[in-house]
Amino acid sequence: MTTRILTGITTTGTPHLGNYAGAIRPAIVASRQSDADSFYFLADYHALIKCDEPLRIQRSRLEIAATWLAAGLDVDRVTFYRQSDIPEITELTWLLTCVAAKGLLNRAHAYKASVDKNVEGGEDPDAGITMGLYSYPVLMAADILMFNAHKVPVGRDQIQHVEMARDIGQRFNHLFGQGKEFFVMPEALIEESVATLPGLDGRKMSKSYDNTIPLFSSAKEMKEAISRIVTDSRAPGEAKDPDNSHLFTLYQAFATPEGSAEFRQALLQGLGWGEAKSRLFTLLDGQLAEPREAYRRLIERPAELEDILQTGARKARQVATPFLGELREAVGLRSFREQVQVATASKKKTGKAARFVSFREDDGSFRFRLLAADGEQLLLSRNFADGKAAGAVTKQLQSGAALDVRPELHSFTLWVDGVCVADSPAFADAGAREIAIEALRLALLPQE
Ligand code: TRP
Repeated sequence: MTTRILTGITTTGTPHLGNYAGAIRPAIVASRQSDADSFYFLADYHALIKCDEPLRIQRSRLEIAATWLAAGLDVDRVTFYRQSDIPEITELTWLLTCVAAKGLLNRAHAYKASVDKNVEGGEDPDAGITMGLYSYPVLMAADILMFNAHKVPVGRDQIQHVEMARDIGQRFNHLFGQGKEFFVMPEALIEESVATLPGLDGRKMSKSYDNTIPLFSSAKEMKEAISRIVTDSRAPGEAKDPDNSHLFTLYQAFATPEGSAEFRQALLQGLGWGEAKSRLFTLLDGQLAEPREAYRRLIERPAELEDILQTGARKARQVATPFLGELREAVGLRSFREQVQVATASKKKTGKAARFVSFREDDGSFRFRLLAADGEQLLLSRNFADGKAAGAVTKQLQSGAALDVRPELHSFTLWVDGVCVADSPAFADAGAREIAIEALRLALLPQE
């Protein structure tokens, strides 16, 4: 049994060292496990919620795609795609929007935080809040449910969204599944062993704190950022406290256990901070120089990246397209042709059949109607001189012999032995006429 692992990366920025250690590297390691079936994608629709600068969106998509590939993602093993290349995701978003409780979305942290901020600032609670932000969790639920992911590696701030995906998926299953579980219930995967990387100032490394170490820009920039890591004021020769040094935490995230132990020892023995920073740089550069070069090459060949992502999109859609077809079916967005068959199939189930109803006209002639199981008129006969003639025709129609149906512009006629015996009602168009002909054939099939 394979485990489907799925995660998305919002394409608003340039990945930094914290993204690499906290998300990219562990995801690539996980994708190499033999039972893993990984779906990793660029959440560029989510990016539009936060960013209205087209150039930044464009640049970030390219940089993030290149980062994952340069970091060693094997696109033959995983399905790597852009969310916006999968139209099924937006379509599913709507199906899910129609079952998602508004009250559930009212509770989403990101939306609530924006409302709180507005209220604090004395503004209208919804000032500047788009429906995109409000519906963010539904789009994310579609990302996850579209591919029936079992595990969703995310940061803590996203756990609530995965729970909402479960909630919405369950509701859909309940409403439309008829005992079938369309959607697998996803679980958030919080990698406890992956420590959140501290930034230059010791707080979580994050672009919003402006404390990041760049990942693949250049060795020089990385060195420059490392030189700005905040340390205490102990002089060279004085013992340092590794457990209270985020420089040590950063080192540990990239070193082997032995390497870390050695570095700890050196700090305890009074290694100067300048020297410590230079060792950190050497460690990082040793691991990142090669992928940095690969990154540079990829960025210079955007057309190749485009091809890779198009291939990924095709792979993803091989799953998404048929699945969405089933879901459309389930909610009632069905082809009219199938609808007829379904209606007849259920007729068989309930034992109700189409029926002939005969009546006499004022002039004494005999006629009949053929009514579908739901009472809708399928045919109205021409006039017959006596009941026997009418009876012979209805018998003939039920014999299972091929029907002689002749389409008119907005109706059809039914013929027996070269004589017109009945007319259909009028239809809005040729499509409706064809459906009615199909329904008539099915209604006149001999009953088992
Ligand atoms: N919202 C996620 C984030 O900002 C990104 C994301 C979008 C995602 N869709 C997803 C993560 C589906 C996991 C699964 O981090």
